[in-house]
Amino acid sequence: MTGCARWLVAACVLLGVHAGAAAEVLATVASPNRAISVAVQLGDGGRITYTVQRNGKPLIAASRLGFLLANAPQMDNGFTLASQAMSEHDDTWEQPWGERRYVRNHYQELRLELVQKALDNRRMALVFRVFDDGVGFRYEFPEQQQLPETRISDELTEFVVAPPAYAWWQQAGEQAALEYAIKKSPLSEVGMANTPLTIRTKDGTHIAFHEAALVDYASMWLRKVEGQKLRAHLTPSAFGPAVQRRGAFTTPWRTMQIADNAAGLYMSDLVLNLNEPNKLGDVSWVHPSKFIGVWWEMHLEHSTWGSGAKHGATTANTKRYIDFAARNGFRGVLVEGWNLGWDGNWSGSGSAFSFTQAYPDFDLAGLSAYAQQQGVRLIGHHETGGNIARYEEQMDAGYQLYAKLGVDSIKSGYVADAGAALFPGADGAVHFGYTDSQEGARHYLKAVTEAARYKLAIDTHEPIKDTGLRRTYPNWVSREGARGMEYNAWGAPINSVDHEVNLVFTRMLSGPMDYTPGILSLEGVKGRPINSTQAKQLASFVLIYSPIVMAADLIENYEKYPGPFKFIKDVPTDWADTRVLHGELGEYATIARKDRRSDDWYIGSVTDGNARTLSLPLTFLDPGKRYVAEIYRDGDHADYRTIRRFDIVIEKKTVTSKSVLQLKLAPGGGQAIRLSPVAG
Ligand code: NOJ
Ligand code: CA
Repeated sequence: MTGCARWLVAACVLLGVHAGAAAEVLATVASPNRAISVAVQLGDGGRITYTVQRNGKPLIAASRLGFLLANAPQMDNGFTLASQAMSEHDDTWEQPWGERRYVRNHYQELRLELVQKALDNRRMALVFRVFDDGVGFRYEFPEQQQLPETRISDELTEFVVAPPAYAWWQQAGEQAALEYAIKKSPLSEVGMANTPLTIRTKDGTHIAFHEAALVDYASMWLRKVEGQKLRAHLTPSAFGPAVQRRGAFTTPWRTMQIADNAAGLYMSDLVLNLNEPNKLGDVSWVHPSKFIGVWWEMHLEHSTWGSGAKHGATTANTKRYIDFAARNGFRGVLVEGWNLGWDGNWSGSGSAFSFTQAYPDFDLAGLSAYAQQQGVRLIGHHETGGNIARYEEQMDAGYQLYAKLGVDSIKSGYVADAGAALFPGADGAVHFGYTDSQEGARHYLKAVTEAARYKLAIDTHEPIKDTGLRRTYPNWVSREGARGMEYNAWGAPINSVDHEVNLVFTRMLSGPMDYTPGILSLEGVKGRPINSTQAKQLASFVLIYSPIVMAADLIENYEKYPGPFKFIKDVPTDWADTRVLHGELGEYATIARKDRRSDDWYIGSVTDGNARTLSLPLTFLDPGKRYVAEIYRDGDHADYRTIRRFDIVIEKKTVTSKSVLQLKLAPGGGQAIRLSPVAG
């Protein structure tokens, strides 16, 4: 407690719970509601650690901070404190689109200036922001002659979880980056994990470890070192140091969203709050909306991306989709396989892709005009096969062409094994690397900022993980970054029955996902059933948020099931508000969202392989109003394991804010509800 006299009286109260054996507490900072507190300690040899307490109990034990550098002595010891400052921030900002319209950004900030005296007074700052829903911290490197260029071999940031915990996680650095099933294991059995990595401690506290504002830096993987100690591992670069920066820079924020339950994690806006405000100004040219696509038919092997007799992207076939979109109120039609380069081995190569030349049987300009006459837009497609070098050569021409033709959203793709994307070198030669390396972070953001110049929205597949940059660049509307519906087409293996409920409290904490829901036919290649009921497909539109959403099934399947299809036509993709009403990791989730453009609410509820009945008080509804509830529920005998997966009951009820619905979910099932106020 040696430092106590130097600090504020309030801070001293917190010191007692944070002080380690030999370490001196440099400073503490608590969340606005004082439930979460962070202390920073200076230990033996001038090493810096931090701890996190929640409600007076240790959550993160002493965890090391710092860096290994390739061009200078390490930055993790010999520190002294030069100065510190505390401040508070509280404002509310508006999202151009999102899960909710207004976001409160309220935190206490602690800033510590640290000096390594033995290294010619080399400096570094540490900034902590403590919110009621968690903690973010980052490092700041000032401009200094002692370190004009910083080459980071690795970051030494640790997260030592104090209470025993289970983790929901996905491996990092492996072949199918970000597209593995989410595993549950004791935290001590995690290997190299991607983020968000979500844990539940023995007392029920939930934490999601992630990062915010990943700009010009390598993605952070988390490696289990020993026990429950996780350490940052920066995605390797092709050149040695994972990160190379000149002059002043800041690292991404290292984040811990903290809540009493899984629902609380999803309600947190911490990652968005740690990103910079919108840099694009007016983004009314970004259109949250639904689309259909010449897409599932290729994944089902009914047609091909490449040319030939089975070519999917023909003028005639695309017109069929445009007509269907116009008849049913979809704004967009995605067409994959429209451009030269799909013949032969494109995946992980991309060497033949053209982003301007269409196959001869696809009339790009004519179809774009035909679509617009009917109030529909083509959604562009840029698959790169991971060949970023080739894409960057043509990106501008590709964007220009689409912009000229009135195509205002582009889905991009980077299909390649982890570490095998092709990047342009300074000397014109190409080299291999990870898409989540510093070079990858630069490329994906460049693709988005260049697209903004043409007023194009980007939906990235095989992306770098989402770290909330949609706040700064709201034309980055969505991305994949998890196992999507496509795995249900291919098999080997299909998505597990608990996949959606795992996604909500892991991947979805990072931002929107282009999950491509709505497979009412409930089957993949050769009629292989998927792990879902029809009602669960509908619920996924509400549950798995994305401002642009593809209703993925074939036209004929939507025509076959007009009842459930009505929900797909009705459901919006942009929300004024979002509430998580039930949530248990890997088991079930219910989310209610209020439409941005009407007074309607929509509810999506999903379970794992277990049937369950969830009680749902409708207290979030306007107390003065009566609502019609259009309910799409599993039939009484519905079961994802049998042909009864198709059993769905569609019924109407009048409800008020005092009503309590009983959601009866079948094994592998779900429920979708539209609530519309009754006029008068
Ligand atoms: C993978 C994407 O996730 C999928 O949606 C797309 O159809 C293929 N790549 C081809 O680009
Ligand atoms: Ca994919």
